Amino acid sequence: MMEIPSVNLKAQNCALKTEILLLWEEILDSAVFVNGKYVKAFEEEFADACSVKRSVMVNSGTDALRFIFIALDLNPGDEVITTPYTFIATTEAITQAGGKIVFVDIDPDTYNIDPSRLESAITSRTKGIVPVHLYGQTAEMDSILSIADKHALWVVEDACQAHLAEYKGRKAGTMGVAGAFSFYPSKNLGGCGEGGTVATNDDKLADKIQIIRDHGQVEKYYHEMEGYNGRCDALQAAVLRVKLKYLPAWNEARRRNAQDYFQLLQDIDSIVLPHIDRSCLHVFHLFVVQVENRDIVHESLGKVGISTGLHYPIPLHLQKAYAYMGLEPGSFPVAEKCAKRLLSLPMFPELTREQICLVSNNLKRSLNINNV
Ligand SMILES: Cc1ncc(COP(=O)(O)O)c(C=O)c1O
Repeated sequence: MMEIPSVNLKAQNCALKTEILLLWEEILDSAVFVNGKYVKAFEEEFADACSVKRSVMVNSGTDALRFIFIALDLNPGDEVITTPYTFIATTEAITQAGGKIVFVDIDPDTYNIDPSRLESAITSRTKGIVPVHLYGQTAEMDSILSIADKHALWVVEDACQAHLAEYKGRKAGTMGVAGAFSFYPSKNLGGCGEGGTVATNDDKLADKIQIIRDHGQVEKYYHEMEGYNGRCDALQAAVLRVKLKYLPAWNEARRRNAQDYFQLLQDIDSIVLPHIDRSCLHVFHLFVVQVENRDIVHESLGKVGISTGLHYPIPLHLQKAYAYMGLEPGSFPVAEKCAKRLLSLPMFPELTREQICLVSNNLKRSLNINNV
């Protein structure tokens, strides 16, 4: 049986092992493990890659979001609008920074926050909007930015799944006041551990986040405020510097793989393929299809060695963590429907045409589609 993983980190690490080990040896010898020249160099290179002024490296994508919201001075009761169809890190960060989460349902085609529903969720307490560029495709930023502008709100982009994705030629994470990126190992740009960064064109905000990530220190043992230990380590920065050089080619490979899936799975009524918004350059962090009986399909593919993912099986408003909001099933019908139907097929740059054929054929077989 041919095993096909949903992501394959070993292939990437194996190819880059010599390059990474050389840098790690240098770091071991220097004994500079926190911040230092690798962190600084990566910050500059990532900012350049995103055509943004500043990048501030932190310990995770979650910290990137949390520190942005803290730096924006949320007060208790301040409302922040986001999608219920994201990873919980997006909303944890809002709450932990003192904000109140307000959900708005998603667009049924792109699975990103639906701009047409935003204005009815805005109140006098609303401070900002957090679009999440889910699966590697940006949200409809023109509408979101113009609504934010009209109501004097900030926009913070959760770009944790969208490294170098574009919207009308602008890079994900650079269109609002700030963007958050994750370098969790399985991301399009992933380290060998935890990591994240804030991207922003606002120097003041970047300076403040630099202080927040380091116990509020402006210089050693001079604390302007209480902060956090959210610094990034040099070993991760070194890996990310190596990998960043390959990221455009890896994203291109993901797009080619997506094209193969499109070609092999087109015109099948029982499979809804990803909707490509022509304003966006998708980076296919995930390749997600809609099917009936998703759980059965997920299980039957698993039995033949094909690993698929569920992103996400329960929308946030129905999680126990948010039971206090009192949001019943039916509150966000689009997100709820997606949670039952979406299935992430294997997607990584090194995926072969043969593997994509196997996944596609087995998917059709599990849906009882003949002629495979
Ligand atoms: C949409 C989204 N937001 C935030 C995060 C949090 O990133 P991290 O795991 O680096 O904290 C992730 C990654 O898991 C994510 O997918």
